[in-house]
Amino acid sequence: MSSDLILVTGAAGRVGQAVVRELLARGERLRAFDRVPTPGVADSHVGNLTDAAAVRRAVEGAHAVIHLAATPDDADFLTDLLPNNIIGLHHVMEATRLAGAKRLVLASSGQVNWWQRERGEIPICPEHPLTPRYWYAAAKVFAESIGQGFAETHGLSVIAARLGWCPRPGQEAEFASYDWARDVYLSPGDAGTFFHAAVKAPLTIRYIALNAFSRPVNVTHFDLSLTKQVLGWEPREQWPTGMLTAARM
Ligand SMILES: NC(=O)c1ccc[n+]([C@@H]2O[C@H](COP(=O)([O-])OP(=O)(O)OC[C@H]3O[C@@H](n4cnc5c(N)ncnc54)[C@H](O)[C@@H]3O)[C@@H](O)[C@H]2O)c1
Repeated sequence: MSSDLILVTGAAGRVGQAVVRELLARGERLRAFDRVPTPGVADSHVGNLTDAAAVRRAVEGAHAVIHLAATPDDADFLTDLLPNNIIGLHHVMEATRLAGAKRLVLASSGQVNWWQRERGEIPICPEHPLTPRYWYAAAKVFAESIGQGFAETHGLSVIAARLGWCPRPGQEAEFASYDWARDVYLSPGDAGTFFHAAVKAPLTIRYIALNAFSRPVNVTHFDLSLTKQVLGWEPREQWPTGMLTAARM
């Protein structure tokens, strides 16, 4: 596939808008998919992840897919996480394979390493055993696992991005209540440059899981050396940069 089109799912969300901003600033060809319209993107598909046909239409012609759309934290498994984070993931991955896209970047979470961080077993490297926090994180582990299975089975290049905490509107007080939160922060600016680097990384990568965090304020919880080695990416920002910027473009 010679297309350079990048599909961003969840493009209207907190991380999605940061990614859209960065990709547009770099002149990338972009399509957005979300259940609400994505501001600033001409090629904006509105649809639900659970609608396989809508997902297939969105992925058509894409060279790379950045899959962000999901329920972004713990929620009822059967009515929320299962349709959005498991069935939706299935539709995006199958559509990506059938469309012949070459690169898939899956949004995972630092919550897959929750319990060792709680125990103070830091810094955490991507190759350490996973200790998912609960249902949401377990669904991210599922996404990472099938990402690896897809890479090996179908030759797709898959990068799982274990993201730091990029607070959504309304999460500011919760964020402020944890002294460790500033050390696991991911600024919108760093999220944008990370996903750009992930999309552009060599297609010789089969499957890899990488940490994506801004610079810690006090203590390093997540090690970024593999991310730097593989993508040549390093965070430029630190809390509170980007913390209070508008989540809507
Ligand atoms: N923000 C963080 O701190 C953080 C940390 C780790 C991982 N992540 C992951 O990053 C991704 C984006 O998170 P976010 O914080 O931007 O969340 P968000 O809620 O701001 O954005 C998610 C977007 O996905 C869309 N969406 C959700 N379900 C959908 C569906 N069924 N069909 C179509 N669109 C749907 C929503 O409309 C929304 O625009 C998620 O996969 C999340 O799990 C986020």
